[in-house]
Amino acid sequence: MTGWSDNTSAVTGRLGDSPLRPDGAAKVTGAFPYASDLRADGMLWGATLRSPHPHARITRLDTAAARALPGVYAVLTRADVPGLNRHGLEHPDQPVLAEDIVRCEGEPIAIVAAADPALARRALSAIEIDYTPLEPLLDPWRAAFDPAAPRVWPAGNIVRHVPIRRGDPAAARARAEVVVRGDYEVGMQDQAFLGPEAGLAIPDGAGGVTLHVASQWIHLDRRQLCRILALPADRVRVALAGVGGAFGGREDLSVHAHACLLALRTGRPVKMVYDREESFHAHVHRHPARLRYEHGALRDGTLLYVRAQVVLDGGAYTSCSPEVAFNAAVFGAGPYDVPAVHLDAYAVYTHNPVCGAMRGFGAVQVAVAYEAQMDRLAARLGADPVTFRQRHALRRGSHSATGQLIDAPAPVAELLQRVRDLPLPSAPGPGELPGGALGSTRGEGVRRGVGYAVGFKNVAFGEGADDYSIARIRLHRNDLHAAPEATVYTAAAEVGQGLVTVLGQIVRAELGVGRVRLAPADTDLGEAGSTSASRQTYMTGGAVRAACDTLRESLFELARRHAPTARGELRLRDGAVVDATGRTLVSVAELLPGNGIEAEAEYHHRRTGPLDPVTGQGDVTVQFAFCAHRAVVDVDTELGIVKVVALDAAQDVGRALNPDAVTGQIQGGALQGMGLAVMEELIVENGKLRNPSFTDYLIPTALDAPSMRVEVLELADPHAPYGLRGVGEPPTVSATPAVAAAVRAATGRPVTRVPIRPDDVIEFETRCAGIEADAVPAPGRAVPQRVEQHDRG
Ligand code: MOS
Repeated sequence: MTGWSDNTSAVTGRLGDSPLRPDGAAKVTGAFPYASDLRADGMLWGATLRSPHPHARITRLDTAAARALPGVYAVLTRADVPGLNRHGLEHPDQPVLAEDIVRCEGEPIAIVAAADPALARRALSAIEIDYTPLEPLLDPWRAAFDPAAPRVWPAGNIVRHVPIRRGDPAAARARAEVVVRGDYEVGMQDQAFLGPEAGLAIPDGAGGVTLHVASQWIHLDRRQLCRILALPADRVRVALAGVGGAFGGREDLSVHAHACLLALRTGRPVKMVYDREESFHAHVHRHPARLRYEHGALRDGTLLYVRAQVVLDGGAYTSCSPEVAFNAAVFGAGPYDVPAVHLDAYAVYTHNPVCGAMRGFGAVQVAVAYEAQMDRLAARLGADPVTFRQRHALRRGSHSATGQLIDAPAPVAELLQRVRDLPLPSAPGPGELPGGALGSTRGEGVRRGVGYAVGFKNVAFGEGADDYSIARIRLHRNDLHAAPEATVYTAAAEVGQGLVTVLGQIVRAELGVGRVRLAPADTDLGEAGSTSASRQTYMTGGAVRAACDTLRESLFELARRHAPTARGELRLRDGAVVDATGRTLVSVAELLPGNGIEAEAEYHHRRTGPLDPVTGQGDVTVQFAFCAHRAVVDVDTELGIVKVVALDAAQDVGRALNPDAVTGQIQGGALQGMGLAVMEELIVENGKLRNPSFTDYLIPTALDAPSMRVEVLELADPHAPYGLRGVGEPPTVSATPAVAAAVRAATGRPVTRVPIRPDDVIEFETRCAGIEADAVPAPGRAVPQRVEQHDRG
């Protein structure tokens, strides 16, 4: 019914190849069933009434008129939630359906199930509700530091404060000869996945329910649903439906509980799918941040210390703000060896939209600030910005800001060198200037700038979490082809990243079978953990490899029984078992019993420890992953248009299991980072989203995509399966500050905020009014370079 056949097709290719995605053809032809395509006989349509106020008291809620409408099967409010009326990834504080007080715009209040979507919407408008608006707390800096600020929650407005204390920052400050300070701001970015939230809940007729839903972690969904529905785990099954992108935005619940509540109440399947505007209100966004940084150095370029305060606006509910604050702290000093660190990261509660996971997860915001600081510091010292970074780069054997020994390759300096050594793009030709086909300039006022940045990010969950993934593999004979075939059973969510391809590659490489099928993912399978933190190839890839190891041993045991004269160590070759002399003993197909053989493995990464709550020291990171970018921009300084011409990357991926997928992740991640640099921002006014649409929330399209060369390093991490490193997030960390640096280089303007707005780069005021822009940094070497004026004939 949910059309999983396309996800179980055979795939080809071994490690280091780039086979076609098993779901690729279906996706490009439109045949792939996304969650929003789900249907069931007799299904009803669910819809959600949401608060228009960011903070209000509900004084009256009357659903009688809505319930009386013909074709309306249920209208539910919080009184209809049988279990805990709260959800949340770690700390359940977000109402499934609103209680007396609403704390954010778009908070769900009531849900309806009706015969068709139009009727469901009509029922929503028939719900009678009165609010008394309350004063919202909107300023995150005030939420963090003003004890007189109104409290979003009685315990206070700080979700989590993570201090990092290393070395002696006070002594370092006293020694410093050069000090640079800056205030930075990062706007609210959205994951902007294309597939809106959708799910289909099907009651089993005996009080249980199956939910088909687009998700990043179906087992966590189920744990939350059991609490809300007051049902045991064996009565709630979550099946992964086709996911149209996630990027962090599908970690929290959306339609999940609502669809299940309606299905259980009506006894009918209930489908819910959001339109784009509702989607923007129904998922968390990237935390906007305000960052205050100070770096000190000696005149000879010795880096002495960094002090920083980082405030992340989490909105009214916790989501994963604690972990985002943790990451902002752990990665806040940048991929540099800084002897003294005094850093405080705060996530705070406000009545702004709720923020949570998004690709880069706390490491993105701080990189905007620390990389701007590195440029400023280099400029003040008269140093080249790349050489300066390389001099202070983390390397194998360094210690991170949390005191963790970096015991795997950390090629920060080399990555910078790789991007620097790439050829620069040529000057823009006709039609290639900022403004493009608009023809808004002939080159006058257009300046080119080049900027560099490097960033780092964790792979997998650290901070002491004993995270794992379970995978099961059945090796059997395909009756049609009389050849061995493997079926992989994993609950890991394919969200577009290509896990289904890479798992097939691993099985093929380990077992030598040609045909690998992937069973649909649901919670009847073992826990695979979250598709987040760039962890699935590492974790579920690790589990699949371990299961393959067991299967291989089983095959060898069968082979020894079959051929007792076998000599020495056995191995697999061309679908057969061979012994140490190279003699073929028996084909795998022949060895397999009728019902095949099966193995399950549970993979754990190496242990990490907690972060000391006072000093912020600890071995908290499973794996560090690094990426460097060089951005080249053309800026029309009269009109304020920024065109990113090139965004070249160098990233260490440990080992490229699938080079095309690696390149795609690096380019896609960089494009998302570029979006944050120049165009992607949710505008929030008085706690309300002003632009919840793809008309007004702009993401880069193919026309905006710059030239993107990718240099891939493969320095094996000795702790990781195949030496691999998670790939998806690091490019998002370094792309944004690289673009900002290039714009700074082109314009000489400070550019302390992303996304960069026309006002931040335009030269009109300074030229016409003859006033100096304040705090303009000394231009770097490449600035400002005048672009040739082109004759358009
Ligand atoms: Mo992602 S931000 O690790 O879901």
